[in-house]
Amino acid sequence: MRSVHRKIRHWYTRHGRTDLPWRNTADPYTIWLSEVMLQQTQVKTVLERYYFPFLEKFPSIEALGKAPLDAVLKQWEGLGYYTRAKNLHKTAQLLTQEQAPGTAPVLPSAIDALIQLPGIGKNTAHAVAAFAFRQPVPVMEANVRRILCRIYAMEQADEKMLWKIAYEMVDREHPFEYNQAMMDIGATLCTPKTPQCTACPFESICQGKHDPQRYPTKKRRAVPTREQHIMLNLYDNKLALTKREGKFLHGLWGFPATEVPLCAAEYIGEVTHAYTHFKLTCKVYLYDALEKTEDHYFTPQQIRRLAISKVDEKILNLYLDSMK
Ligand code: ADE
Repeated sequence: MRSVHRKIRHWYTRHGRTDLPWRNTADPYTIWLSEVMLQQTQVKTVLERYYFPFLEKFPSIEALGKAPLDAVLKQWEGLGYYTRAKNLHKTAQLLTQEQAPGTAPVLPSAIDALIQLPGIGKNTAHAVAAFAFRQPVPVMEANVRRILCRIYAMEQADEKMLWKIAYEMVDREHPFEYNQAMMDIGATLCTPKTPQCTACPFESICQGKHDPQRYPTKKRRAVPTREQHIMLNLYDNKLALTKREGKFLHGLWGFPATEVPLCAAEYIGEVTHAYTHFKLTCKVYLYDALEKTEDHYFTPQQIRRLAISKVDEKILNLYLDSMK
């Protein structure tokens, strides 16, 4: 890692966002504030709209701790997720109450102590420790997670694994530069869609560079299941179809769904289909009608030539199988 660490430092000096105000201060309060704001929105917005006005109004932990909550919330307006502002205020109050007479309230430097404070989780505690107190610990946020997954070609990784790797990789001699660089590399080189691997200081050790899009693979969200009853109306060896209207599958021919299957209908099986946003299960019934009740009937061969959905194709196959 020594040569990689050197490359990262070199890269950071040349390409890093070294002029960000929270990177040019030793004040733990302003670093903590920037971290909380940056959890909420992008660098540009924090820089242009929130960071400086907030510090003007509440220039110290003490000023924040002694301010009424309403004033803090007002200053946070537009950033959203007001629990963060409330916790910021609550922690400032706690620290202000705990301060020894005649001294200014301070944030603790130990990660364990930081985590005890309202609104400071593992990530924020590590960021404050690395950036304000220059401790040899890694930071973890979305960009860093993506970089680590790619370096180790991991399609998925749990938090425990990521932290373990992050601790192994951190430049213990230059944690500040290393961690800031990680965020900048994630924001500018190791981007989700078009990473610039050849310019990346991790290139020599990155196992995911041949197929970076694969790492990490987006977790599939649990999709809801919808269930439908499909009634195949059979008359004279032909099946009734309707032309779909409305947004979904508009213009395709299809087997109509019914609320409740007819008692006289025979259950012949089910088909399933995965759409992007839901999984559809169709319970299919066959009703052998004695008379013609629908407008359009087609033989299976004719249906094959019509525009029908994948689900209806599966239903047709189920019907043909059931006739064998
Ligand atoms: N996001 C979280 N912390 C950051 C930092 N120190 N610089 C830029 N973006 C960040």
